[in-house]
Amino acid sequence: MTATKGLEGIVATTSSISSIIDGVLTYRGIDIDDLAENATFEEVAYLLWYGKLPTASELEQLKSKLDQYAAIPSEVVEGIKLYPKDTNSMAALRTAVSSLALYDPAAQDMSKEANVDKAIRLQAQLPTVIAAFARIREGKEPVAPKAGLSVAANFLYMLSGDEPDEVAVKALDQALVLHADHELNASTFAARVTVATLSDIYSGVVSAIGALKGPLHGGANEAVMVMLEEIGSPDNVESVINEKLANKEKIMGFGHRVYKNGDPRAKHLQKMSQELGKLKGNMDLYNMSVHIEDIVTGQKGLKPNVDFYSASVYTTLGIQRDLFTPIFAISRLSGWTAHILEQYDNNRLIRPRAEYTGPSNAKFIPIEQR
Ligand code: ACO
Repeated sequence: MTATKGLEGIVATTSSISSIIDGVLTYRGIDIDDLAENATFEEVAYLLWYGKLPTASELEQLKSKLDQYAAIPSEVVEGIKLYPKDTNSMAALRTAVSSLALYDPAAQDMSKEANVDKAIRLQAQLPTVIAAFARIREGKEPVAPKAGLSVAANFLYMLSGDEPDEVAVKALDQALVLHADHELNASTFAARVTVATLSDIYSGVVSAIGALKGPLHGGANEAVMVMLEEIGSPDNVESVINEKLANKEKIMGFGHRVYKNGDPRAKHLQKMSQELGKLKGNMDLYNMSVHIEDIVTGQKGLKPNVDFYSASVYTTLGIQRDLFTPIFAISRLSGWTAHILEQYDNNRLIRPRAEYTGPSNAKFIPIEQR
């Protein structure tokens, strides 16, 4: 038995949800470029869950369920009030989602109908949880979700308490479309491993949130912003990035396990970053990002991934840095739950083997002789 480090190149399951073939990403066979330009996040979530685009009435039904489910139990809000003020935002999300299960009477119901319903419920509640956390830590009361708003609009509304502008809603909605699913990425794999034991959907999502949190995965968007803040001004890009490369530091937001010729989602976020910068009259973050890309691609051949331009997009939208990865979770929740449902439909326990590298023929030594 020989191990493959990081399971690189290992095909661990079949899936009909999303594919990456020759650098092209599709959701249910539809090119991400097509979806990014034309679909809303709600349509994409429906597509991932049900395997087809919704009709107008199916979309309305989904939106009304999202409206109906968006509030979170007061016990969960009270719990968030008890978190230490400096709690890591992804740790808060992980804990709050775990506690949502405690107040869902259907949490352990493993019927298909109940599980689809819980996927929609979680999709509706995640933005509410994150917005409540963001406000409570600033000493503000949470803002209740408003019926009739899209997932993107409602999240921005619950963060600030003000109706968000159209440009911000459109940008966030497109970012949600771009992050919704990505084949067998680390967090989706974690979700599938958990539910393959026939554990419940909440446990699968909590596992996924834990995996997404790390800086090699979803945490990279926040790490990109840390780097941009460290660079500080366009004049410093060259010296800081060259020093990082000379020290063999990883440049966050670059490289990918699957894409070696560029992440197809990055160009959409780059365009969005440029447009938002122009609109807000401050191109610094965009220009710094482009300069970083020139240096890193020029010297290392590494291309930006989905996280790189997300950082300048979210910052230009006025979103706090540590909410970037939770926003990723809002979007990827649709993909996680689609994969969880697919796993339940054709389940087998996921239990690979390890190549043993420890000692052999070791003997037990009594404690007094050690
Ligand atoms: N900066 C500098 N060098 C890099 C980077 C980077 N961002 N990414 C890869 N490399 C180098 C590695 O140092 C390594 O070089 P070596 O062969 O000389 O040792 C080589 O490229 C291969 O890199 P690995 O880390 O082995 O590639 P792997 O496929 O395991 O990792 C990963 C992919 C984790 C995305 C990696 O590129 C990385 O750490 N990037 C930065 C973090 C990041 O942006 N993560 C988000 C990924 S997208 C997402 O999850 C949503």
